[in-house]
Amino acid sequence: MEKTITVFRGDGIGPEITACVLEILRAAGAGLAYEIFDVGEAEWQRNGALIPEAAYQSFEKNRILLKSPITTPIGKGFRSLNVTLRNKYDLYANIRPARSNTAVKTPFHDIDMVIFRENTEDLYVGIEEQIDENTVHATKVITRKASERIIRDAFQYARTHGRKKVTCVHKANILKMSDGLFLSIFQDIAREYPELETNDKIIDNTCMQMVMNPNQFDVLVMPNLYGDLISDLASGLIGGLGLLPSSNLGTGYAMFEAVHGSAPDIAGKHIANPTALLWSACMMLEYLKDFDSASRIRSAVDQVLAEGHVLTPDLGGHATTEEYRDAIIRRLG
Ligand code: NAI
Repeated sequence: MEKTITVFRGDGIGPEITACVLEILRAAGAGLAYEIFDVGEAEWQRNGALIPEAAYQSFEKNRILLKSPITTPIGKGFRSLNVTLRNKYDLYANIRPARSNTAVKTPFHDIDMVIFRENTEDLYVGIEEQIDENTVHATKVITRKASERIIRDAFQYARTHGRKKVTCVHKANILKMSDGLFLSIFQDIAREYPELETNDKIIDNTCMQMVMNPNQFDVLVMPNLYGDLISDLASGLIGGLGLLPSSNLGTGYAMFEAVHGSAPDIAGKHIANPTALLWSACMMLEYLKDFDSASRIRSAVDQVLAEGHVLTPDLGGHATTEEYRDAIIRRLG
């Protein structure tokens, strides 16, 4: 039976890569129907709402959202739509798998790590206070409830996916109470998973180790801001932001999106790499238990990358987004 999903077509490269991904999903015969909405800055300029009410209602009905990147207008009064969505639907677990693809040349090899980023609190609660003309305070929130569930999800993922090690990333040496709480919860939960190796690293050291010896990392779990930074760093190890997908999971809702933003510098040029959004769609298919469509798309992408003739410029090629899409469709078994 067909499953209906909600699709948000965002800003910048969003519409181009969304169109491309939907065509590949159709060509792969994924059993999906789509309710597609324009959201973001362009939609706000047209209709005065960043996300139209009908788009919210569609997600509330379908519970599954494939979302392309959205520009956050800079200035007062605009809270990031991504942060809004994650909080409104309590999408607390941001899961970002970063894996080397042998076809993509980078100085790093055999990277295979999964980042679990807490998605609802930390500095992203957006509480800032003007103390005086020259002083602003920003509030960092860490709670037991939010920390426990993301840390438990990371351990459970490691156990069920045959992973060996879970690393907690923090700054508890300075933020003794907030990150200290996160770390102590990690250490408590670790005792329930004696078969897994565990360790913790301070965020600055983690950044250095990610570059010097990234293969030591397997599953990583961390508060929101560190997860944001470490994800982009991890994407650099595997060939760039065009290759890093993600899922945002809560108890009732699931949202799948590329880690990258709306890339205004290349919007409309038809050179955006749609792979991150496509692999996010594969994570969605796996979430829906359509393993067949997901694996056929994954292997078609692997073939196109391995052949190396039809690659977008970020991967060193000259192909347009659409040429890359067509090459993938030709290789769908
Ligand atoms: P960005 O991720 O959009 O771009 C960073 C660099 O990576 C740019 O040079 C861009 O051309 C390149 N890049 C990104 N995705 C690519 C792709 N698929 N193919 C080829 N190259 C790609 O980050 P930036 O410029 O800081 O943010 C632009 C806007 O996106 C901002 O308004 C930001 O708030 C928003 N944003 C939205 C996100 C989302 O909707 N999930 C996530 C991150 C940023």
